[in-house]
This record gives sequence, C-alpha cells and structure tokens, in this order.
Amino acid sequence: MNTFNEIIGDMPSAQKEKELAAKASIEYVDEGMLVGLGTGSTAEYMLRYLGERVKNGLEILGVPSSDRTAKLAKELGIPLTTLGKVSRLDVYIDGADEIDRDFQMIKGGGGALLREKILAHNSNFNVIIIDSSKKVDKLEAFKLPIEVIPLASGKILGVLKQLGLNPSLRKIGTEVYKTDENNVILDVGISKKDKLHQLNSKLLGIPGIVETGLFLDYVDILIEGKDDIAKTYKTGRRKSRM
Ligand code: 5RP
Repeated sequence: MNTFNEIIGDMPSAQKEKELAAKASIEYVDEGMLVGLGTGSTAEYMLRYLGERVKNGLEILGVPSSDRTAKLAKELGIPLTTLGKVSRLDVYIDGADEIDRDFQMIKGGGGALLREKILAHNSNFNVIIIDSSKKVDKLEAFKLPIEVIPLASGKILGVLKQLGLNPSLRKIGTEVYKTDENNVILDVGISKKDKLHQLNSKLLGIPGIVETGLFLDYVDILIEGKDDIAKTYKTGRRKSRM
C-alpha cells in the first residue's frame, strides 16, 4: 500500500530531504551486518543507496519489513534472509509518519507496522530517517494505525469508539486494506494529552489487537533531512530490548 505522502504527492523539497536522510543512514551499515530494511518512500531511497553499495562489493544480509520491500530489495540485488534464521539484527533502518521531541513515533502509514515493530524490537540499533515535515512537538496529527485480527475488527471498532478514539477501518477505494499478515488496520485519533505508554498498554490489552503503530523508545539515531543537509540526533536511548 502507498503511504499518505505517496498518494497526495510530496513537495519536491520533502523528496530531497528524504533522500538526504536515507543517504546518510547508509553510513551505519558495515561489512557483514544483518540489516533490517524498512518500508515506505524514505526507506525506498535507503534501499537504492544500499543496493549501490552491495553492487560495489559490500556483503550484508537484509531482512525486509514487508513484501513490498522484499520485492524491491531483490530487484536491487540485496541478498535477503528472514528473522527466524538470525538471532538479532545489527541495525534496522526505517522511516516514520510522525516523531515527537522525545523521539516517540507513529508508524504504519504504509501498513507494515507489525513486521516493522518486530524488526525494530529485535535490532541492536535503530536508525530512523525522515523529512522535516515528520517532526512534531507532540504526536497527534497523524492517525495511529492499529493492526487487528479481521474476526475481531467489528468488536474492536466498537471498543475504540467507546474510548473516544474515533476509529476508521482502513480501505483502499472500496476494498478493505489487508496487511502482509492478512490482518486489517483501524486508524484512530490520539490527542496531545494522551500518555503514550499508558495508551499503548491499554490498546495491547484488548484481545484481537495484534500491534499498534506507537513505536515508543525505539529510536537510537534520528536522521532528519532539512533543506540541504542531513541532521543527526543521538537519542541516548539505546538499551537492551532482548
Ligand atoms: C510504513 C511506515 C513508514 O515508515 C511511514 O509510513 C513513513 O513513510 P514515508 O517514508 O513514505 O513517508 O511506517 O508502514
């Protein structure tokens, strides 16, 4: 599925900023690494730069976060493996839909949140690449995607309504959107006032919710493309998530 930005079309400057951030992220990839490959238009730039380095002799193995990323990585000659065959990733590189000043994120605009979170959780180091429009004071404007088992989606829609989260079932045209895991997505509205860890725990406590797009405490490095430069922020949040 295309992300919101891809559907409405980014401003040329946003594309340039994505590309700058993606290019800078490749510096975190070294010979012999297991590299988690994100999903979305910014991650796509990263895949292209990574593909060039692989063509020039870099030996790595990639683990894709979506079928769409796997397809592009194969086209670019990036050798792939699966998470089941490795212990942990050395680095995971991906985009974000919104990131606040505490480096907490909303992801899943492209529908790949479940595999993305599994990879981010099982990586020693997470590098997030964004254009400058993604940085916000507090998470709020971007709808939070929640991945749900189809059988439970009607019930969960009702529960989320009761919680005042104004849920909507994600569709592409008239068709219900299905994730790579054959689940559905409910997009909900969150507020600046929400306590993010509490909200996440509450949502994950509802049977049938598989995962949320709240990526809390996962960013080690943020690279923001801003005008003509790539700005790097070290969060100091690196800790064992085994
Ligand atoms: C996909 C994601 C993407 O990282 C997010 O939607 C950002 O996409 P883009 O780089 O196209 O702006 O979470 O599930």
